[in-house]
Amino acid sequence: MPAITVSHLSKSFGDVVAVDDLSFDVPSGAITAFLGPNGAGKTTTLRMILGLVTPTSGSTTIGGVPYRDLDRPLRKVGAVLEATAFHPGLTAQSHLDGVRIAAGLSAGRVGEVLDRVDLDAVKHRRIGGFSLGMRQRLALATALLGEPHLLVLDEPANGLDPAGMRWLRGFLRGYATDGHTVLVSTHVLAEIQQIADHVVIISAGRLRWNGPLDQERGLEDLYLEVAG
Ligand SMILES: Nc1ncnc2c1ncn2[C@@H]1O[C@H](COP(=O)(O)OP(=O)(O)OP(=O)(O)O)[C@@H](O)[C@H]1O
Ligand SMILES: [Mg+2]
Repeated sequence: MPAITVSHLSKSFGDVVAVDDLSFDVPSGAITAFLGPNGAGKTTTLRMILGLVTPTSGSTTIGGVPYRDLDRPLRKVGAVLEATAFHPGLTAQSHLDGVRIAAGLSAGRVGEVLDRVDLDAVKHRRIGGFSLGMRQRLALATALLGEPHLLVLDEPANGLDPAGMRWLRGFLRGYATDGHTVLVSTHVLAEIQQIADHVVIISAGRLRWNGPLDQERGLEDLYLEVAG
């Protein structure tokens, strides 16, 4: 069974058709790049997958189940969305503690995820003073708390420096090698080309491409041809 199924999904905001009869599957145990121009409908689609936006029509399921019907969702799906809001007065450690208590996870998980995203050294600093890249890492750490088998990431490379990009690449590759699934939206084609197994491209809310990554063709050429 696919990790995620998107089926005839549509979403309008007033007169704006953000997502238009979109259907695709996200294969399990692979990294799927979710691409498209600004305003294509990527974030809206990811938010519908995560039950944060109600579709106008169509449906989307995770392992065959709508997100809102998942039992213990934080243990199944980790999500990093655009502009994740943190309470600026909390430290990284206290933020993660709050989430892990709410989710009923063991105290040891906080140290493990801080370690995993290389934030251990700054865990007692207030998030209000964190750089964009540090916030991205903290968002990823939060997503990993429940040891989910599926990660849904909306532009996680945003704000990362070159070393951070390389780190994220290695992290995602390792995560998928363990048999986990990643659905990741990004505009950084050169980065994602190095690790993606599968590519979904949308434009103006519609599907333009869905298939395995063809390294010989080159992702940028494909993207510009179908979405540009
Ligand atoms: N809450 C909202 N209210 C009104 N319009 C919205 C809302 N959310 C998204 N839209 C519109 O839906 C369309 C798709 O937006 P979306 O954020 O999904 O695109 P995107 O592919 O994520 O773009 P980007 O690459 O810039 O992040 C845009 O026209 C946007 O203005
Ligand atoms: Mg977006």
